Amino acid sequence: MQPQDRPEAEHDGGAVDLRSDTVTRPTAAMYDRMRLAPIGDDGLDGDPTARALEAAAAAALGKEAGLFVPSCTMANLLATLAQVQRNQQVVLEAQAHMYTAERGAATFTGAFHVGIPGIDGAMDLDRLEDALDGSGTRLQTGLIGLETSHNNAGGTVLALDHMRTAHELGRSRGIPVHLDGARLFNAAVYLGVAPQAIARHADTVSLCLSKGLSAPVGAILAGPRAVVDHARRLRRMLGGTQRQVGIMAAAGLEAIEVMGDRLAEDHARARLLSAGLNALHPNLRASCAQTNIVQVDLSRTGRSSADWVTALAGAGLLVRPLGRDRLRCVTHRHIDGAAVSAALRAFRVCLDAIP
Ligand SMILES: Cc1ncc(COP(=O)(O)O)c(C=O)c1O
Repeated sequence: MQPQDRPEAEHDGGAVDLRSDTVTRPTAAMYDRMRLAPIGDDGLDGDPTARALEAAAAAALGKEAGLFVPSCTMANLLATLAQVQRNQQVVLEAQAHMYTAERGAATFTGAFHVGIPGIDGAMDLDRLEDALDGSGTRLQTGLIGLETSHNNAGGTVLALDHMRTAHELGRSRGIPVHLDGARLFNAAVYLGVAPQAIARHADTVSLCLSKGLSAPVGAILAGPRAVVDHARRLRRMLGGTQRQVGIMAAAGLEAIEVMGDRLAEDHARARLLSAGLNALHPNLRASCAQTNIVQVDLSRTGRSSADWVTALAGAGLLVRPLGRDRLRCVTHRHIDGAAVSAALRAFRVCLDAIP
């Protein structure tokens, strides 16, 4: 059976993979669109399908223009390079992916990254305001970064009021806001709003096509046309201009046009997993999932996250550690009810093996 012919969710007794929503395979419709996509050379006169994706993504996010890039890391890097001067600072919530996992970007951007403490991914707005004070000899801020849904906070979704206030703080000082919206469509489903109702509280926004939306690769950077045009030139310098990239953009079009609607299923499975884990044993404490990420606190089990990852893999469940005491489980299109039950059985087996 070819991968594109497999059923959508297919727990077949093999390992259940909760490591990330990036493991989702393209749908049959994506393969069809990839095969039929009109293509051109995106480094010469442009690839028509990439251009169509960029326009559709910009419209979905309520922005003037969009840019198709190989990864969300590159989208975030380009947002910084296009808007921040060397020796300025980028201010972010301290657990944001751009801060914890991507601030090596500072070696390219020359921008200092400042982490602001937050709760559930929402930074303390008083401390944000303090950090924006560039008076005297203090560093000027070139960009404020937000993230929703928030990966390290367990897929939590920023309140729109919080985003509005952060955006207003930035606007009143002439500082743009970039939204790392890798999982923006999950946030939109949780809030019951259109993606653009979230994206309007930021100047630029990145969106990952290859996570829950199931495209094989790719992300979008969207924002004002001048910023996106600048980012397009910078993308070439980074070697991110791809040639007949329409083959990948075709899957991206399917991702943004069709795949958002089913994310509620992933959220329901995450809630099922979370409730099941909390019912298993008081020593296992799972976060209440707002979207598709569940964090499991293991600190009362006497075993480290590394021990748990190994033991669960032996029981047929793949998860990732989050620090020493927590696990991160992510639901996605290939996790159905049977897979959640299998995951809970794996936890049960491992709990029973602890003396
Ligand atoms: C919130 C967030 N932003 C950005 C990224 C980077 O995405 P990519 O792997 O496409 O570079 C990730 C990846 O997990 C993420 O979770």
